[in-house]
Amino acid sequence: MGKLEGKIAVITGATSGLALATAQLFVAEGAYVFITGRRQKELDAAVKAIGGNVTGVQGDAGNLADLDRLYDTVKAEKGHIDILYASAGVGEFDAPLGSITEAGFDKTFNVNVRGTLFTVQKALPLLRDGGSIIMTGSIAGVKGFPGMSVYNASKAAVRSFARTWTMDLKTRKIRVNVLSPGTIDTGAFVGVAEEVKDQFVSLIPMGRIGQPREIATVALFLASDDSSFVTGIELFVDGGTAQI
Ligand SMILES: NC(=O)c1ccc[n+]([C@@H]2O[C@H](COP(=O)([O-])OP(=O)(O)OC[C@H]3O[C@@H](n4cnc5c(N)ncnc54)[C@H](OP(=O)(O)O)[C@@H]3O)[C@@H](O)[C@H]2O)c1
Repeated sequence: MGKLEGKIAVITGATSGLALATAQLFVAEGAYVFITGRRQKELDAAVKAIGGNVTGVQGDAGNLADLDRLYDTVKAEKGHIDILYASAGVGEFDAPLGSITEAGFDKTFNVNVRGTLFTVQKALPLLRDGGSIIMTGSIAGVKGFPGMSVYNASKAAVRSFARTWTMDLKTRKIRVNVLSPGTIDTGAFVGVAEEVKDQFVSLIPMGRIGQPREIATVALFLASDDSSFVTGIELFVDGGTAQI
C-alpha cells in the first residue's frame, strides 16, 4: 500500500522540474493529483507523462481568478484536498541593487509571495482538517546571493508565512512546512553554461547538483504521516549548501 493511498493532492507549477517529479511520486504512492501550469501544451504533456490519477488545470499561480477556477475544478471532481504543495515560483537572478525594476519586483512577488498566499488561503475551505501544506522556499531565503535580492526576499517571506500559518491553522491540525531546495537540475538550468554550473557545484558540499526525484522523496515525507509531528519547519534539501 502506498503512503498516500486515497489522498487528494494539489501541486502548483508542476508541469516540469521538481514539482512534476513530486506529482509522479505522489501518484505512484496512491494519491490523485491536480497539477497546474501556465502553458497548456506543457500541461498536457505532463498529464500524459504522469499517466493516470491526474487532472491538469491550466492557470497562473499569481492570478486569483485562475486559482478560483483550480479550486472549483477540485471541488467538482473530488470535493476536498488532503495535501497542498504550492510550488510555482519565478525569479530574476541577475538584478543587483541599482538595476531592480518595478516590473521585475512585481512579477517575482506576485507569484512567489502573493500567489503562494492566495494558493493556500483559497484552498482552506477544501482542505481537510489534519491535512498537509507544503510550500517551496529556497536556500536563497537564507543566503545573500548577489543579484538575487528580490528572489531571496520572496523566499524568506514564504518561510515566514509557514511560522504564522502553523499557528493560524493549529486548531484544524493542518501542518504547514517549507521545503527549500538547493541547486536542482530542472528547466531552470537549461542553456546555462557549464562554467556557470561549475560555480554552483563549487558551493555544494556534496559536490553535485541535486535531482528532482531527491526533492520528491522529501515532499512525500512532508505530505505523508511519516512527518505527523513535523510542522512549521523549513526543510533544506541542498547537499549541505546553506548548512555550513
Ligand atoms: N531548480 C532549483 O534549483 C530551485 C532551487 C530552489 C528553489 N526552487 C523553487 O522550486 C520551484 C520549482 O522550481 P523548478 O526549478 O522545478 O521550476 P521549473 O522547472 O522552472 O518550473 C516548473 C513549472 O512551474 C510552472 N510555472 C512557473 N510559473 C508558474 C506560475 N506563475 N503559475 C503556475 N505555474 C507556473 C512552469 O510551467 P509554465 O511556464 O507553463 O507555467 C514549469 O513547468 C520554484 O518555486 C523555485 O523557485 C528551485
